[in-house]
This record gives sequence, structure tokens and C-alpha cells, in this order.
Amino acid sequence: GKDKELIRNSWESLGKNKVPHGIVMFTRLFELDPGLFSLFRYKTNCGSTQDCLSSPEFLEHITKVMLVIDAAVNHLDDLHSLEDFLLNLGRKHQAVGVKTQSFSVVGESLLYMLQCSLGQAYTAPLRQAWLNMYGIVVAAMSSGWAK
Ligand code: HEM
Repeated sequence: GKDKELIRNSWESLGKNKVPHGIVMFTRLFELDPGLFSLFRYKTNCGSTQDCLSSPEFLEHITKVMLVIDAAVNHLDDLHSLEDFLLNLGRKHQAVGVKTQSFSVVGESLLYMLQCSLGQAYTAPLRQAWLNMYGIVVAAMSSGWAK
């Protein structure tokens, strides 16, 4: 429906430039919650967050995150087909010390990135469409946390 169209159209250009948009998203994430930075074990000898973000390991993680978003956008009609993958991805994040509560600040950072790059095209319905999709991804990842 309308939600899927909004997401697909907005991702069309964004998805072609994953890394720069991912950098905007993660710069925002570490601004909102600097504590998350320490969960990355490879954050060695960087002068600043900005230096770190442009290191190969961080760029690789950013690329991985953007590819998961890309997969979700490409599977809007059958998001459940990603459930096993996302559950395992959740497990891996629990193992590195991520808390499920942190996904709300990740979501805020995602919206911030969308707002920065879409400008006028960032509307209330678009924001809600992305929140809905992100909520499904987070729910699937969160099912990977052992209770
Ligand atoms: C792997 C941290 C959010 C996707 C990792 C790793 C760390 C990490 C430390 C292992 C090292 C590495 O592969 O670079 C975090 C933190 C996050 C976060 C602190 C924010 C709270 C996300 C999100 C996604 C994601 C939102 C996608 C929706 C991935 C993927 C991997 C990964 C695909 C590779 C997993 C594998 O090796 O199979 N993450 N991550 N991450 N992360 Fe994240």
C-alpha cells in the first residue's frame, strides 16, 4: 500500500549511497548515546568519534547495517522471510553487549538520517511508514535475546 510506496521511493536514491547516509546515522547515534561507542571493540587509537567512524571496521559495520535496511526494504511484502536472519542478528548483538532498549535510539538516528537527506519529502506519513518497518525489524531482532 501507501506505506511501502513511501519507503521504496525514499530509499531509491538513499540506497545508492549507503555509506555516507550510514555515517550520518551513526554520528547521530553516538551523539545521542556515546556509551554505545564502547561496544565496538575495534575502536582503537582514534582521536575522535569522527575519526573512528571513518575507520575501515566502522565503515564495514555501517555498510552491514545499511544492507540489512536494504534487505528489509526489498522484502516489504514478505518481511517474515527475514525473521530467522534477524533473530540470529539479535543474538550476535546480545553477545556484544547491546541492550534491546538501545534500538529506540538507533531508530531515532535512522529517522534523523532520513530527515537530513529527504528534506521536504520527510513527511509525517513517511516517518510513520519507516517507524512501522523499523519496528518489525527490531521486534524480530529482539526475539534473539535470551531471557
Ligand atoms: C555486527 C554493534 C546496531 C547489523 C556487530 C558487531 C558489533 C555491533 C560490535 C560485531 C563486530 C562487527 O561485525 O563489526 C552494534 C551496535 C549497534 C548495532 C552497538 C547499535 C546499538 C545494528 C543494527 C543493525 C546491525 C541496527 C542492522 C539492522 C549488524 C550486522 C553485523 C553486526 C549485519 C554482522 C553480524 C555477523 O557477523 O553476522 N554490530 N550494532 N547492527 N551488526 Fe551491529
